Order: sequence, then C-alpha cells, then structure tokens
Amino acid sequence: MPFPSDTNPDTQLFDLIDQEVQRQCTGLQLIASENFTSPAVMRAVGSALTNKYAEGYPGKRYYGGNLIVDEIEALAIERVKRIFGADHANVQPHSGANANMCAYQAILEAGDTVLGLSLDHGGHLTHGSPVNASGKLYHFVPYKVAPGDERVDMDQVRDLALQHRPKLIVAGTTSYTRRLDPAAFKSIADEVGALFMFDAAHIAGLIAGGQHPNPVPYADIVTFTTHKTLRGPRGGCILSTAALAPAIDKAVFPGWQGGPLEHVIAGKAVAFHEALQPEFQDYAAQIVKNASALAEGLVQQGFRLVSGGTDIHMMVVDLRPFDAELTGKEAQAVLDLGGITLNKNSIPDDPRSPFVTSGVRIGTPSVTTQGMKEPQMAQIAELIARVLRHRNDAAVVAQAKVDVAALCAQFPAYA
Ligand SMILES: Cc1ncc(COP(=O)(O)O)c(C=O)c1O
Repeated sequence: MPFPSDTNPDTQLFDLIDQEVQRQCTGLQLIASENFTSPAVMRAVGSALTNKYAEGYPGKRYYGGNLIVDEIEALAIERVKRIFGADHANVQPHSGANANMCAYQAILEAGDTVLGLSLDHGGHLTHGSPVNASGKLYHFVPYKVAPGDERVDMDQVRDLALQHRPKLIVAGTTSYTRRLDPAAFKSIADEVGALFMFDAAHIAGLIAGGQHPNPVPYADIVTFTTHKTLRGPRGGCILSTAALAPAIDKAVFPGWQGGPLEHVIAGKAVAFHEALQPEFQDYAAQIVKNASALAEGLVQQGFRLVSGGTDIHMMVVDLRPFDAELTGKEAQAVLDLGGITLNKNSIPDDPRSPFVTSGVRIGTPSVTTQGMKEPQMAQIAELIARVLRHRNDAAVVAQAKVDVAALCAQFPAYA
C-alpha cells in the first residue's frame, strides 16, 4: 500500500527543510551548543530504527524483535565506555535535561540539598533553576564565579559545601569559558561526604578529543549531550560507576522515560565511532585553537571577554565596553540579519534581564567542522564588529551578509 506522501508529497515541509539547510550553510553558525553532524549520523537517525519499540535494555526488553536493536544499543554503550573509560553507560536519555533529571532521580530524594553553579553565572537550568523541575524538586544551593577573575571560586564551593552538607555537588556549565578541575570538586565532595556529578554537556567532545580533563575518574556520575562538541545526534547520555549502574538504569527506564529512541541511539553509536578516530583529536584541538583566535580577534576589535578569554570552545562577550547602549538582544537580532547566528547571554551579575542581557555567547564547533582555521577567525571577529558598529546602516549589514556567504561558500559543511 503506498504511503500518502508517495502520491501527495509534502512539499511544504520539505521546502522548509531545504530553506533551513540553506540558512545553516550560507551563514556563520556560532551558537556554542550547536554543530554540523555527519551525513552518517543523519543516515542512522533517519533510518527504519524509528519503527521499533524497545522498552528495557539489551537482553531485557518488554517487546520481541529486538535482537538487532540490542546489538546496536550494546555497540553504542561499548563505544562510549571506551571513549571516556567509564564503568557503565546509559545511552537512552532523550536529551541532556533528561539525563540530568534521571541522574538526580537515581541518587536523590525530593528536598535533598545539592550544590550547582548559578544559572546567571554559567550554570544550566537543570542545575536548580527555580523555573525548572530540578529547582522545584530539590534544594539547590548556587555557587558563583568570583567577582574579580570571573572564574568558579573553589573556596566558595568548599565553604558552601561545609555549611550546607549537600548530598550531591554538580559541576558543569553552559556558558562558562574556563576548564573545570574535576579533582578539586571531588576532593570537596569527599570532605563533606557528598556524591559528585559532572555535567559535560558542552565539553564532551573536548574531553573525547583530549582538550579537557576527563571527569570520569573522579565523578560518581557524568552526564552529557551528544549533539554539541561531540557532534552527534540530539540526545543525552549518562556514565556512572558500576555501583550506581542499577539505580541509573532504573531511573531512566521505567523512572523517567518510556521507549528509547533507537534510531537516535544508532546515531549516537556513529558519533562515538567518529570520536574514536584519531582525526577527532585534531578536530577538538582545532576547536579550541579557533576559540582562542576568535577571542583574540574580538579583543582587538574592542570587546571585553568574561574572565578575559577562553580555554575551551566558547567565549562570553561583555558588550558594554564596546558600546554601552548595545544589548545582547539587539546584537543577536542584527547579527542574524548579517548572516551571523549566535545567542544573547547574561554576563555575571548582569544588570539587564535574561531576555535582554549585556552579552553574547560565541562558539567555534560548527565553523571548525566546516574546516575554518585561525585566519578565518580574524575575519569573523571583524565581521561581528563591523555589523555591530554599523547596526543602524542597513547597507553595511546587507554587505556583511554577502561577505559571510562568500566565506561560508569556501568552507561547505556538506559536500
Ligand atoms: C550544561 C548543560 N546541561 C544540560 C543541557 C541540556 O541539554 P538538552 O538541551 O539536550 O536538554 C545543556 C544544554 O544546553 C547544557 O548546556
């Protein structure tokens, strides 16, 4: 029997997808949490595995017909354990947020105390924001970056840990540009008898590529997303000690989720395979080199970077010294018109609301996937400054969009 779309193709939807591919490929994609995943990953995600129900885990499913799916999920598990040197992996979380909530459910009771980095200082919503389930279910105590160097203040983390005796300490960030020291967090957790969880959503690819200390030897649980620097499909993953494996698996299913997305798990397996190749080390190193070069270029253009720079794949720009009137919201909008996509971002102790902000966050994973290197980072810094300086001149913004498209045409993400 033919499918309805065989005879009546959904041109409306597929035209929109074509337009989005065009947008991605003709503009600069500088959102730090995005990347261009490979055609192989997309092939797996678009495969017939989407048809299969597989509640449970390899060898222990609630439905029949899972022999091959079991092999696929086992392959993903084996590969990700190999990348990070983990005892246990659960590849089923549908997203990073789910991975975090499942991890909490595995080890916490409602009302338990947890330390996490404050959202407005670079933490994530799922690290206890009052508008998120994490903040409603658990008693999160926020730690912050130090006012001077704008880096995570480990003395403050220790003081708060001694004062509040949390059951869990969470490290990991969404808009913080420096390396974290997993050993330092672990030593504080040990001192107060807390568990230690590292949310590596942003930096999983940098860890896999040898550009950030691996938290696995120190943390009881490591969660991450597979779609950021790791360059896989949209999704989450949890690594843990062997001791916590049963609790983690039970929290994911049946605790938090139903049937796993086996097509996405297949995409994760492909991404893990790619991350295990030697070239991935070069890719991760280039992401970081590009971020440093872009940071330097932006400073030369008169911008201030939060914490003075970056050690990883992203930077947070304080726009105020460049132009006191310019908000993150306006910068994001006008740069979009110039073909440059990034996001507004609060800076520590931002006087403006999170919907307006005084900063933007910029990342290099996507442009690095395209093959851009340090010379292109200087060009990007100049383009950003040009658009923002002349943001009220439509002709300058339009010309920048042409220049951006010309740059991207030299570095196509997809053949
Ligand atoms: C540190 C951190 N944790 C968790 C998440 C949540 O990931 P997802 O958007 O897949 O739910 C993010 C996403 O940006 C993140 O930066």
